[in-house]
Amino acid sequence: MKEILIIGSEGQLGLEIKKQCKVLNKVNFTFTSLQSLDVTNTQQLVDTIKSKNFDYIVNCTAYTAVDKAEEEVELATKINTSALATIGQSANEIGAKVIHVSTDYVFDGSNHRPYVETDTTNPNSVYGSTKLNGERALLSHNKESMVIRTSWLYSIHGNNFVKTMIRLGNERDELGVIFDQVGTPTYAGDLADIILHIVDADISKVTTFEPGIYHYSNEGVASWYDFTLAIHQKMNISCRVNPIETKDYPTPAPRPHYSVLNKAKIKQVYNVSIPYWKDSLDKCLLLLK
Ligand SMILES: NC(=O)c1ccc[n+]([C@@H]2O[C@H](COP(=O)([O-])OP(=O)(O)OC[C@H]3O[C@@H](n4cnc5c(N)ncnc54)[C@H](OP(=O)(O)O)[C@@H]3O)[C@@H](O)[C@H]2O)c1
Repeated sequence: MKEILIIGSEGQLGLEIKKQCKVLNKVNFTFTSLQSLDVTNTQQLVDTIKSKNFDYIVNCTAYTAVDKAEEEVELATKINTSALATIGQSANEIGAKVIHVSTDYVFDGSNHRPYVETDTTNPNSVYGSTKLNGERALLSHNKESMVIRTSWLYSIHGNNFVKTMIRLGNERDELGVIFDQVGTPTYAGDLADIILHIVDADISKVTTFEPGIYHYSNEGVASWYDFTLAIHQKMNISCRVNPIETKDYPTPAPRPHYSVLNKAKIKQVYNVSIPYWKDSLDKCLLLLK
């Protein structure tokens, strides 16, 4: 029996992993939430990791409030960076492999072609910087670690762009949405699926765990404006959506104008195909209906 620890199991990704975990055979899951494990409590984090001979640790915790992070630098650093050093160190001591999730916001958005894993990072927000430092802390403390950068995550759980656009679309007659930021929406269910696939492939020795940085989002490209239109069309929301520029919707944390991720590496190493973003959106909206 393999032991796997899922830290942060009540977030969007954590809940999807919880939902899908039964697909793995001969694996015993331990789930923690903020209530049972606060990752800013270093001793508690170390004790939890060392409480069993875990084979794998998946970190789904994060400080994800991108704008608030500009103010709450210390807390964002503790959760997104310092905790990763502790996770890496403790995992190393017990010989556990770690899968951690990071973000497209480690890039500054100046690219004109999808970002590959080796492209130069240059975050332009506190959130992006703390996540990048977390990647580095983990990879330097535990060589058996994998960082999966993803983008524009949504699910049926928690607060996310999809749910906000449904709410605003139902409340208002007209809405302005940014069209000059381009990326790829990613359904948390698909991300959970690939993470469990990576663990399963390692256990069954189909593909040995290959540490390092990977990019994973759904396939395709969209602006927030396109994303909104797709949501509203599927949900039969008749609100008029106007494309607006970033400069007309200033936020405390700047976002990259372009953050499409190239997924060639993960597709090749793990021999997977990735769903198109609109197909996954339809799946999620069906559940929300
Ligand atoms: N959301 C996106 O658009 C997006 C985009 C790119 C990358 N990512 C990355 O994808 C990963 C998963 O994101 P997500 O959307 O699933 O995040 P999420 O829904 O915000 O979940 C994060 C979880 O971490 C928990 N948490 C916060 N502080 C904690 C602490 N001190 N100790 C323990 N748990 C704590 C949160 O608990 P509470 O909810 O109770 O606070 C929440 O359950 C993250 O690494 C994120 O950076 C997300």
